[in-house]
Amino acid sequence: MSGRTRVFSGVQPTGTLHLGNYLGAIKQWVAHQDERENIFCVVDLHALTVPEVIDPAVLRAKSRETVAIYLAAGIDPEKSLLFIQSHVREHSELAWILNCVSPLGWLERMTQFKAKAERRGTVGTGLLTYPTLMAADILLYDTQVVPVGEDQKQHLEFTRDLALRFNNMFGDTFVVPEVSIPKAGARVMGLDDATVKMSKSIAVDRPHHAISLLDTPKKMKKSIMKAQTDSGCEYRPDHAEPGVRNLMGILSAINGEPTSSIGERYAGQGYGYLKKEVAEAVVEELRPFQEEYHRLMSDEAYLDRLLAESTAKVRAIAETTMTRVRAAVGID
Ligand code: AMP
Ligand code: TRP
Repeated sequence: MSGRTRVFSGVQPTGTLHLGNYLGAIKQWVAHQDERENIFCVVDLHALTVPEVIDPAVLRAKSRETVAIYLAAGIDPEKSLLFIQSHVREHSELAWILNCVSPLGWLERMTQFKAKAERRGTVGTGLLTYPTLMAADILLYDTQVVPVGEDQKQHLEFTRDLALRFNNMFGDTFVVPEVSIPKAGARVMGLDDATVKMSKSIAVDRPHHAISLLDTPKKMKKSIMKAQTDSGCEYRPDHAEPGVRNLMGILSAINGEPTSSIGERYAGQGYGYLKKEVAEAVVEELRPFQEEYHRLMSDEAYLDRLLAESTAKVRAIAETTMTRVRAAVGID
């Protein structure tokens, strides 16, 4: 390693990425890109954990689209490695080995599993062992820091516990990673219902739930102007309800202004003014991103070349770790 902190993170290529993915994860990847050694992944194997909603052609297209989204958001291929998870087979191999040392009780306790399983009649085993695949992603690269939104905190604790358990059973093999969660934007809530986190699956049939990163400016403004606030018509700092706090959190994550100071500026004013400022900020933040995204998507050869180069480098790191892991468990 270069001496710089090694960072790994990823997003599932399901649906189109939204403002929560951008503010909770990708924006912080970009912010620290220069000082760290970065590996960013499109986790398509994780997308398979809900097979009933998978359309193979769509998954293939979305994986590529997500690579373009990373680049358009400011991930620089000179400073970061970018790849699609299934293109590096070692992820599946390590996930199997980790499954064999993951206590069932740890997996059954995961709140994301319980929530997803509750909404479905039957679930695949992959949904239960999703966190071991995520641990494999992270541990394969001797990752030190994992920048994610708040909803992934429990999966990171699981990864740390699993790395320690494996090291105890088979000798020092894995680096134990730290989680990094941003101060603002760590949990962007739904615009139409601020009691649930903004999510790709809810956005499928609720058009004003999320801001998709590829929405038109007109649609973004409409969703924000319609956003849930609270029963009164003007902002009162002592009574701010979830919808209002969500809008302020979004603004703060974009412009860096503390929410307390935003609150002071809007004390006693109607919510329309706050919404207008949030809408302008979101549209302006995403304008250059969208231009770059469309340019990249029209240059297939560039994306293919970049992915091939990056994937070869990532594979070499994964192979080194796997040599160590296979030897540790006796399958070398
Ligand atoms: P996913 O869409 O579940 O693959 O999430 C990818 C990344 O975005 C992870 O780091 C999540 O923690 C983050 N993320 C997802 N939804 C939100 C949200 N509503 N607010 C903040 N971060 C989020
Ligand atoms: N589980 C993460 C999510 O849904 C995505 C993910 C998979 C990930 N592997 C990872 C994030 C490794 C960070 C590191 O948000």
